[in-house]
Amino acid sequence: MLEGKHILVGISGGIAAYKIPELIRRLRQAGAEVKVTTTKNALQFVTELTLQTLSGNKVYHDVFAAINDHSTEHISLPDWSDAMIVAPATANVLDKMAHGIADDALTTTFAAMRKPVVIAPAMNDKMYASEAVQESLTQLSKRHNITVMDCAEGYLACGTTGKGRMQEIDCIAEALCYALTNHDMTNKHVLLTAGPTREAIDPVRYLTNHSSGKMGYSLARECWRRGAMVTLVSGPVSIPLPIPVLFGEKTRFTRMTVESAQQMYEAAMQALDEAHVIILCAAVADYRMTEVSTTKIKKTSDSPLLTLTLTENPDIAAAIGEAKRPKQQLIGFALETDHAEEHAIQKLKAKKLDWIVLNSLQDPGAGFGVDTNKVCLLSRKGTKKDIPLMSKENVAQAIISAIL
Ligand code: CTP
Repeated sequence: MLEGKHILVGISGGIAAYKIPELIRRLRQAGAEVKVTTTKNALQFVTELTLQTLSGNKVYHDVFAAINDHSTEHISLPDWSDAMIVAPATANVLDKMAHGIADDALTTTFAAMRKPVVIAPAMNDKMYASEAVQESLTQLSKRHNITVMDCAEGYLACGTTGKGRMQEIDCIAEALCYALTNHDMTNKHVLLTAGPTREAIDPVRYLTNHSSGKMGYSLARECWRRGAMVTLVSGPVSIPLPIPVLFGEKTRFTRMTVESAQQMYEAAMQALDEAHVIILCAAVADYRMTEVSTTKIKKTSDSPLLTLTLTENPDIAAAIGEAKRPKQQLIGFALETDHAEEHAIQKLKAKKLDWIVLNSLQDPGAGFGVDTNKVCLLSRKGTKKDIPLMSKENVAQAIISAIL
């Protein structure tokens, strides 16, 4: 989503400024072009040379410097940029931004900015809790183009523990994606399942599959970015999920981690009632052990064969297809190796889905583990939409745009 975007990073003079070079590097790795403006004090914490080297651009920090290309960078930079991040935002800079005070490079640039802005405050916990700062944050968060992040709790540079930490770099980058997204799912609740399930054989072994959970997590993130409330029921996967906490907003993202298909079924059914859209991306094991051995199954010399007796697991998609209300939209996935479209349409009908997303394992770059995917969307009404090979993030965008 950040590919080709112009991002302006504004740094003010707090100790958390030492983390911003890493943010700049991440933004550039994601394909963005970055320019930097700072207050004078920010350069006490991070050097101009570091910022210039990592961004690949001159740093704008002195309104009156003769070396400026021309004297109106505070206007040309907002014009150049698609979005701005102010991180860390100190109490002083927050209060200035809230009151329209523009007396240095960063604040004059911010005053001219009409595109999306993400503000990541950082300060001592007592300063953060002060009326002035809370009022400034409230005022800023009411502006249509501004996303204000909350502070995180934890260890502070002054040696205490409290609420005042800047949220992690990955959360700031995610808040930027949120700020750059059209919030067309506000007031919608989305329930998703993702990842594989694990069916225990004995205390040390289990049955599972190759699902990485990447497609489901990309869909969950996309729904969050569009403003939805998200409940993600996830099988065991190791995917980082940086979801920022926004100022004054109740958390809109709940992740429930489960292991078995039965646990996934129970968690999904529990969250079903409030969902408007249900996306079932998990690769659920169709069978579990009829009886899980309480002790480790030992190898015997009697026979080279071991027979496991399996019992069918609940089909979450079919159960939701039966239970859902007419206005709830149900989207399933099908991963097929042969007669792909025919099998997908059978599943669409049998499970009473509104849409099925067909993945074909035969397509290079699609399916398990990889960061890209290529899918075909088929609807109950007979619509067919091919989504070409692209990143799972972009496939998620295309799927959500198609089903809304
Ligand atoms: N699904 C589910 N619960 C199950 C099995 C599947 O919710 N116990 C959902 C999947 O999340 C997916 C859709 O049903 O959205 C199709 O899954 P798939 O495994 O392809 O279908 P199955 O009915 O298990 O058929 P197959 O015999 O091909 O495995």
